[in-house]
Amino acid sequence: MAELEMQALFEATGAARENAWINSLEQYRRMYSRSIEEPEIFWSELAESFFWYKKWEKVWDCNFDIAKKPIRIDWFLGAKTNLSVNCLDRHLESGRGDQSALIWQGNRPDEQRVLSFRELHREVCRFANGLKTAGVKRGDVVSVYLPTVPELAVAMLACARIGAIHNVVFSGYSAELLADRLVDSACRVLITADGAYRGKKPLPLKQNADKAIEICSKIHNHRVERCIVLRRAGLPVSTRPEIDIWWHELVRELPDRCEPERLDAADPLFILYASGSSDKPKGIQHVVGGYMVYTGVTFKHVFDYHDGDIFWCTADIGWVTGHSYAVYGPLTQGATSVLFEGGANFADPGRICEIIKTLGVTHLYTSPTVIRTLMKQGDEWVDKCDGGSLRILGTVGEPISPSTWRWFREHLGKANCPIVDTWWQTETGGVLIAPLPYAIAQKPGSVALPYFGVEPAILNDQGLELSGPAEGKLAIKRSWPGQMRSVYRDHQRFEESYFRVFPGYYFTGDGARRDADGYYWITGRIDDVITVSGHRLGTAEVESALLAHAAVTEAAVVGYPHDLKGQGICAFVVLKSGIEATNELQKQLILHVMDKVGSFAVLDKIRFTTGLPKTRSGKILRRILRKISSEYSDLAAASESVKGTGVEKPQSD
Ligand code: PRX
Repeated sequence: MAELEMQALFEATGAARENAWINSLEQYRRMYSRSIEEPEIFWSELAESFFWYKKWEKVWDCNFDIAKKPIRIDWFLGAKTNLSVNCLDRHLESGRGDQSALIWQGNRPDEQRVLSFRELHREVCRFANGLKTAGVKRGDVVSVYLPTVPELAVAMLACARIGAIHNVVFSGYSAELLADRLVDSACRVLITADGAYRGKKPLPLKQNADKAIEICSKIHNHRVERCIVLRRAGLPVSTRPEIDIWWHELVRELPDRCEPERLDAADPLFILYASGSSDKPKGIQHVVGGYMVYTGVTFKHVFDYHDGDIFWCTADIGWVTGHSYAVYGPLTQGATSVLFEGGANFADPGRICEIIKTLGVTHLYTSPTVIRTLMKQGDEWVDKCDGGSLRILGTVGEPISPSTWRWFREHLGKANCPIVDTWWQTETGGVLIAPLPYAIAQKPGSVALPYFGVEPAILNDQGLELSGPAEGKLAIKRSWPGQMRSVYRDHQRFEESYFRVFPGYYFTGDGARRDADGYYWITGRIDDVITVSGHRLGTAEVESALLAHAAVTEAAVVGYPHDLKGQGICAFVVLKSGIEATNELQKQLILHVMDKVGSFAVLDKIRFTTGLPKTRSGKILRRILRKISSEYSDLAAASESVKGTGVEKPQSD
């Protein structure tokens, strides 16, 4: 990083700063010290602002030390609450019933739906009754394979109301990946739609769901008993009366009141699968109490949300960003949240400007990929874009380069909006490191300082904690309320994945640097996870898809820097003997991986090779492959420079 970038500081001033929840560095430091020194008092005070049937007996009780197994993360012990009551009922009682809770923008510009808190409450209660009619009980897992439509939020909140555990599967995932998630979560009820729109293309969701249900029963002997189908795209679907039921028929004539379950703070709220180092994704498990408090308070502080603001998180609800900051965080705070079906990655800039202008969006929370996509269209459109309502900009999911950061600030924010670059993960539930917009000056490309109660550490390869300015592996020293509790049905995997490598710490899988001001700079994943357009993907998932192709005998996949997507996917493929490496085969492999993994898993480069570089014990030397994929455009030179890799000149990129 150039020294100049390290020193550039942007600080917000003016009236917004005066009104901010946290409006000076001194206030941040005071609150941060308190959160570390007196966590019980600090978190009790914040949790008081939520509704509880019964308050906690103890604020926290956690063990990060793997030598003293089990690893235990417990917050608000003994407390009872219900998240849907916190998101809905409580706002009706405080007079917010007519305020917009969700403003949904369809893929087509003429499609818009607005749900007030009262209307959302009604829909949620009715669907919660529908789930009960379909046989769902407290503690059951309900999988949801829907695009970003209001019904996805309704389904999540309905599960939360009756104590069912939702398992949202991103609608861009393939039938195979959906099936894996249904089997791993032992789920018997699936909610989907006839189809969904992302960009111009309708996705045949019900068809994928049918295929997934068939894979479950034929290959895994697992029966999905009910499939609730939302009519959305008007695509023709096959219906089997013993399994399928239309959403609108299920809820017809059901009451719009549903008594909420009194849940323990430690009861599971949801599972969200995240890619890791193996081809089996982990069911990241969050619980009701800690997740509710953490997403609510981080939403309020990190985005400095005030009544009347209009918050737009462009992430698909199928990812954790959508869970925490399009649905739960905003709704707990009685906020108005904008949902966009189309996926901002695919939107034309005009549409984004139009949504900001017509709705008077005050907060735009998006990803570096979306910003790069917008930047690519030139500056003319954005300079004409009326973003006068914008007050705060946010970014998440991948490192943002200082130049992209500056473009975001100058062109979309018209140099008036603070930027919150928020670092967090599916596992963390909510934001862990970010500049609070009116308290912490921003440096382009840095995620700045930790949120309250968060104690980051930079470790060297031996696990030694480094002090002062340092670069190494990012770990967290103590628990925070939004932390995941377990890997669903596999607590040992939770312990081994996150607490074994550096005993006493939660290991994030990311590399980071800390500068002389204590600011953090995320350098990217150091495990086998790649982030494509902000979507987390395990190299092993792509490799296992490639190996399932009849022509492939060995495959290794690595990420490499990509101008638009942040990271691109480069596959090194060894073909079975006698099979020729043709352009046609290359195309086939690309389609095959998209079919097996999902439409976003596009192989950007394929290198056909006669062998893969390995250690003596047979482990693939990814370091070498990464170097080849990112540094050399000429593979012949690369092969020459890295002797023995067996890499051949590619057919094409
Ligand atoms: O590598 C980090 C990157 O995204 C990973 C987490 O991915 P996921 O669980 O899909 O959640 C993404 C949205 C919360 C992290 O381990 N990441 C996330 N935010 C940032 C980031 N990298 C750099 N800067 C960020 N602001």
